[in-house]
Amino acid sequence: MTDLSELFKLFDPTLGTIDGLEPIERRLVDLHTMFSDKQAVTAALQAENHLIYSVTAVQPDEGDGALHYGIGCIMPGRIGDEYHMTKGHLHSRRAAAEVYIGLQGEGLMLLEDERTGSSRTLPLQPHSVLYVPGATAHRTINIGASPLTYLGIYPADAGHDYGAIAERNFRQAVICRNGEAVVVERSDYLRQLERNTATGS
Ligand code: F6R
Ligand code: ZN
Repeated sequence: MTDLSELFKLFDPTLGTIDGLEPIERRLVDLHTMFSDKQAVTAALQAENHLIYSVTAVQPDEGDGALHYGIGCIMPGRIGDEYHMTKGHLHSRRAAAEVYIGLQGEGLMLLEDERTGSSRTLPLQPHSVLYVPGATAHRTINIGASPLTYLGIYPADAGHDYGAIAERNFRQAVICRNGEAVVVERSDYLRQLERNTATGS
């Protein structure tokens, strides 16, 4: 029988924490390879290996039909023009879907279908519920000026596969252009960064 303390938790939607549980912190050094602007990564790391996001996971039960959930909190900010984001992953059990619930702040979720390579971007904000289908790489991005917090609920046996994304990254990137968040092809963004370096702009 699952322990009573596992059945009930209090969470703070502003801080993105769950009472009594220690968050896992992801700092710039943990995902520096994911951001495209390498000069901006180096400059930011020289200043501080700052916190990008934290996740607190709850695993109340295991086995067939059981659920796990977690609360995420992404700090506002950018590395170069690219907004703070999570590493992103596929579920090891590819069929496992997930539900995200926006709690605070202004965000986006980038979904990339592993089978077709097609991408979709959905808004993640308070009062929104997002369904992430199976076999879909998912990354959360904070495009606002305050911390972005959300809950994610997924099958206990979903597992997290970070390998594929660590190797090839998402095909699209979310960057700031003229003060607006825009979704661009990462390859185009990388070419633009190269041109900027070549022309010293
Ligand atoms: C769980 C899930 C979220 C993420 C969280 C951090 O399946 O999707 O709880 O774990 O948004 O992102 P990652 O795991 O990509 O570092
Ligand atoms: Zn997930």
